[in-house]
Amino acid sequence: MGGFLQNERLTIRRFAPGDLADFLAYQGDPAVRRHLPGEPMTSAQATGYLAAQAALDDGARDAWHGFAVELADEKRVIGDLGVWLPARPAKTGDVGFQFHPGFHGRGYAREAMQAFLPYAFETFALKTVTATCHPANSASWGLMERLGMHRVEEAETHVRYALARSGARPVPLRSAGLQP
Ligand SMILES: CC(C)(COP(=O)(O)OP(=O)(O)OC[C@H]1O[C@@H](n2cnc3c(N)ncnc32)[C@H](O)[C@@H]1OP(=O)(O)O)[C@@H](O)C(=O)NCCC(=O)NCCS
Repeated sequence: MGGFLQNERLTIRRFAPGDLADFLAYQGDPAVRRHLPGEPMTSAQATGYLAAQAALDDGARDAWHGFAVELADEKRVIGDLGVWLPARPAKTGDVGFQFHPGFHGRGYAREAMQAFLPYAFETFALKTVTATCHPANSASWGLMERLGMHRVEEAETHVRYALARSGARPVPLRSAGLQP
C-alpha cells in the first residue's frame, strides 16, 4: 500500500519500524494468541517482522502482507490485519487480524476489515478471500460472519470462511480447487 486507507476513526497503512512499542503491546500478549498457533512475539521477532514488512514490495507473492491499524486521532497502532498471497497464478488470498484486547468490542476490527477487503480484492487481483481460525475462537469467526464471509469448511481444529469478489456465496474450497 503506497498510500493508506482512512476514515474518521482509523488509518490502515504499511508498518514502519517506529511501530514497535504499539505492536509489541498486543503481539507480545499471550491473551491475543490464546486461539492462535505459536508463542507471543519477542521484541527481537517483532523488530524483524516490522523491518521485513516495511521493506516488502507491494507486488510480492508467496508472502504475508501485513498492515497496521492506527487510531486516526491518537496515531496509536491498535491492531493489524493482512493477507497471505500465494504464488501466482492463484487468485485466493488468506486474511487474518489481531487487535489489542483493550480495543476489542468497539467495532474497530470490523471497520478495518470492511475497508481492507475491497482494497485487497482490487490491489492483489483476487477472486476469493479466505480466513481460518480455531472453532473456539468465536470472536474471530463472528467477525468473519459480520463481514459477509461464508463458512466453507469445518474441522475439529479449524473453521474456514470464504468470500467471493462478487459477494456471491462461494462453493466449498475443496471442490473448487482453491486451497490457499
Ligand atoms: C478477532 C478480533 C479481532 C475481533 O475483535 P472485535 O473487537 O470483537 O470485533 P469487532 O471490531 O467486529 O467488534 C465487535 C464488537 O464491538 C461492538 N461494537 C461497539 N461499537 C461498535 C461499532 N461502532 N461498530 C461495530 N461494532 C461495535 C459490537 O457490538 C461487538 O460486540 P460483541 O462482540 O460484544 O457483540 C479480536 O477478538 C482479536 O484480536 N482476537 C485475538 C487475535 C485473534 O484471535 N485473531 C483471529 C485470528 S484468525
